[in-house]
Parts: sequence; C-alpha cells; structure tokens
Amino acid sequence: MRIGVLGGGQLGRMLALEGIPLGNRFTFLEPSPHPPAAAVGTVISAPYDDLAALDRLADAVDVVTYEFENVPAASAHLLAERVPVFPPPASLDATQDRLAEKRLFEELGIPVVPYRALDAPAELGDALDAVGLPAVIKTRRFGYDGKGQAVVRTAEEAERAATALGLGLIAESHISFERELSVIGVRAADGSRVCYPLTENHHRGGILRASWAPAPALTRALLRTAERYAALLMDRLEYVGVLAIELFESNDRLVANEIAPRVHNSGHWTLDGTQASQFENHIRAVTGLPLAVPRARAPTAMLNIIGEMPDVTAVAALPGVHLHLYDKDPRPGRKLGHVNVVGATRETLVERVDRLERLLRLADRKESSLRC
Ligand SMILES: Nc1ncnc2c1ncn2[C@@H]1O[C@H](COP(=O)(O)OP(=O)(O)O)[C@@H](O)[C@H]1O
Ligand SMILES: [Mg+2]
Repeated sequence: MRIGVLGGGQLGRMLALEGIPLGNRFTFLEPSPHPPAAAVGTVISAPYDDLAALDRLADAVDVVTYEFENVPAASAHLLAERVPVFPPPASLDATQDRLAEKRLFEELGIPVVPYRALDAPAELGDALDAVGLPAVIKTRRFGYDGKGQAVVRTAEEAERAATALGLGLIAESHISFERELSVIGVRAADGSRVCYPLTENHHRGGILRASWAPAPALTRALLRTAERYAALLMDRLEYVGVLAIELFESNDRLVANEIAPRVHNSGHWTLDGTQASQFENHIRAVTGLPLAVPRARAPTAMLNIIGEMPDVTAVAALPGVHLHLYDKDPRPGRKLGHVNVVGATRETLVERVDRLERLLRLADRKESSLRC
C-alpha cells in the first residue's frame, strides 16, 4: 500500500524501515528540512496545515497515519474526508490536551495523579491547595521530553513557573513512585488487540534515557491491569494502530501519566527484542493485516543516544548490540539514535549495558543508575 505519514522524524523513519518489507511505500508530510525519514520515502516539505500539501498527500496515498501527535487535529480530520486515517483523528483530540486526556482516563476508571486545570493566574492558590506541594505545572498542549513543565516546591516557585509557561496549564501532585512503566497496545480495525510486555523506563530531566523489557519483577496483577487500561482506551477510541500508555507504579498501583497515540520511544526495544516490532504491528494495523504476536525473545534494554554521538565503532564492537541512528545533527537534549542490547539472561544483559553505558558517557553522571 501507499502510506502517508504526518511527520518525518525518527519514528517515521522506523515505520518505513519496518513497513517497506511488507510491500509498502511511504510519503511523509514534514515541515523541517532534511528529516530522518527522507532516506526511506518521499517527503512533501510543507507545514502540517498547508491545504495544497494535504491535498497532494491525499492524492498520493491509500491510507494516512502519524508519527507525531502534535500535528493539527484539523489536518487529520480534513485528510479523513479523502482517505482512511488511522488512528482515528479523534484520538488526537483526546490526547493533545492533558486535561482532556486526564478526563478520558477518569471516565474509564483509570487512576491518575490528583490534578487541577489552571486557566488563570488567580486560580493558582486553589490549584495548589487541591494538589499540594511539591507539584508539577505543565502546559496542557505541545509538551514533550519534559519541555513545557516544571517541578515546584513552594507557592513562589509555582507562580514563577506559571508565569514562564503561560496560560492553558495543568497542576499535578508530584508523586513519588517506585518506577515508571509503559504498556504498548495495538488494535486492528476488526477490534482484535495485542499488548507488548510491560517496559520499565528510566527518565532524567524529563527525557527517556533507558528502557528494560520485559520489565523485571512484574506481578500478574500489574500486567493484567496495564493490559486492561490499554484495552479500555483503545476500544473507547475505536483505535487502529499502536498506542502507548505511560504509567507510574506506586504502592502496587498503576497510575496513568499520559497517552501517546503513536509508536513510542519506550517501544524501540521491540525492534530487536521481539519477533515483530511496534513499528511492524502499527503498519499491519493501518494496512489491514492481522497483528503479529508481540512476544519478547530475550531480556532487552534500550539506551537512547542524546545530544552527542558516542564512539560508534566502539559501540558497534560490543556483543549483543543493535545500533539505530537517526541521521540527525547533534544538539543538546536531542535524540540522535538508540542502542538495543539483547542478552540471553538478565545477568548478561546487565553486564553488556554497563559497558555500553560507559561508552555513552552516562555511567559517570550522578543521577540514579540505569541498572534495574
Ligand atoms: N505528576 C508527576 N509526578 C512525578 N513525576 C512526574 C509527574 N509528571 C511527570 N513526571 C516526570 O516527568 C516525566 C515527563 O513528564 P510527562 O508528563 O510524561 O511529559 P512529556 O510529554 O514531556 O513526556 C515523566 O516521565 C516523569 O518522570
Ligand atoms: Mg511522557
């Protein structure tokens, strides 16, 4: 099939790398020059709301999907009048606004951290009374990789953060959690669904640094709960494609943080750690193929390459290592690639990750170890 993708970043690149073997061709709509997906398909270089460009895309493809959730929902709705668009554009409406997202979780009985909408500076006092301190103040829209949010410990800090972030905010309790987990679900148009094993995620500065999968020390109850949340959300949204839910594990409970209506960084390990990656299953879903079994092959870790390139030759020389580079110019905080590490046992995996960490120059940072 001819697949159109809104966005041409690394997620689009990996969708095509996994979708081309299934006989598909890719066209990306992407405003920035030299996007990572340029190597694997045709790029229409235009803003996401350029009507002529949206027309050209609709003419060129059989189905449209997205790799970036902050594309204007109106563009997705417009395209849907011409070609099938999966996931349904309404999923963008539900996930682009943190407030709408929290309400959706609540409607489905999925626990969230205490929160309050913050629409005017005068509401700050009430909001802090409701959520307590410390709190996290976040923009309702367009946040990613920890951008557009601040952890605040005093009312003065909260006021400064709210002023800096502008309006259209949400205040959340800053909760202490044992760890962060994510679940990646896939739903096909016929309503069939699969879920990848839960993944344990380590963030620093709001950016995902490492994932371990399947997450160690999981209980059946946690697994079943996460899968139930994914099923509830995907069914409610009449979803087609991959959806990720970021979760906090806190006192044996799973609390939902946010949804990504797309393939997700915490699923990159699936490229080398499973028989069929999240990218392949997303393409299967949007092109009407049956979903593939998402079982893990072996304990796997994923480490992001952020800001600076490591010694690629040295990384490639490590055993059990799979390099995925995105062909992006280095810039602080920018995701440039990731490395998947597979080990026959968890001990082998931990030992390999230790060596890789040193090369990625993460080992000497003061923050908590990436080790599980
Ligand atoms: N309410 C919270 N309590 C504690 N930590 C949080 C909270 N919200 C976010 N964080 C931390 O910040 C990270 C990024 O926040 P998130 O809401 O996922 O935004 P983004 O869209 O940038 O990924 C989370 O993965 C988590 O580590
Ligand atoms: Mg997040």
